[in-house]
Amino acid sequence: MLRAFYFHVLMISKKQSIAEILSYNPSLQPVFDRYDSWKAHLAMPLHGIAPDIFTDHDFLVEILRAFDKPRRFCPTRFLRFPVHIVLDYLYRTHRYYAQKRMPEIEQTIGQLAHAYGDDHPLLRLLQSFFPGYRQHLEAHMALEEDTLFPYILDLTERVSGKQAEKSIFSHYSLDEFLISHEEDELDEQLCAMHDLIRQRHPELKRVFLFQVLSTQLKAFGKDLFIHEQIEDHVLVAQARRLERRV
Ligand SMILES: [Fe+2]
Ligand SMILES: [Fe+2]
Repeated sequence: MLRAFYFHVLMISKKQSIAEILSYNPSLQPVFDRYDSWKAHLAMPLHGIAPDIFTDHDFLVEILRAFDKPRRFCPTRFLRFPVHIVLDYLYRTHRYYAQKRMPEIEQTIGQLAHAYGDDHPLLRLLQSFFPGYRQHLEAHMALEEDTLFPYILDLTERVSGKQAEKSIFSHYSLDEFLISHEEDELDEQLCAMHDLIRQRHPELKRVFLFQVLSTQLKAFGKDLFIHEQIEDHVLVAQARRLERRV
């Protein structure tokens, strides 16, 4: 009890170990899942873990705080980090969504199909939504990795004088990116689907697999919201600053 109070007052910091942070809030594990080998460093304070594991300890603490208290999440707190640290997190997150988040949700849907049959209205609803949603998510991430992220890397190279030739991204528009990014509504679509299945199937509320799916959808929606906010309000703001300097 005293331990929980201690963490509540002090907030997450680099002085705490991964084990302490996860015992305070187990739902923070997905943040660590973006990084390789984190399970080998459970007992060590974050600041003592080699930087090649977490890239930047201060960024990690800030993102853990955002996931811990999403209502207090303020994207502008991330503006102080260098562009390559922000990009590192975004690339890792894309990989995490494709390799872990979506497969976990699909596995739960498969287990529900096994338990209830493909003809159950819930399964028809899920199976009509998820394949398209996955394609949409993958196309969204691929577009960012093929255009926005390389454009920003190109800007950093030009600002540092490492690249003298004319940029291949001379017609890239951050305003156009922001419009299409907002239209994609990845987190809103997921939250809407979550609400819809809860409304249509209140009879499944106490079914374990349904609770698992509900928790996964809610967590993914929250994760996507933070991710998209960082892209819109941190990465794009940093890119605009770089544009003014080239
Ligand atoms: Fe992204
Ligand atoms: Fe995005």
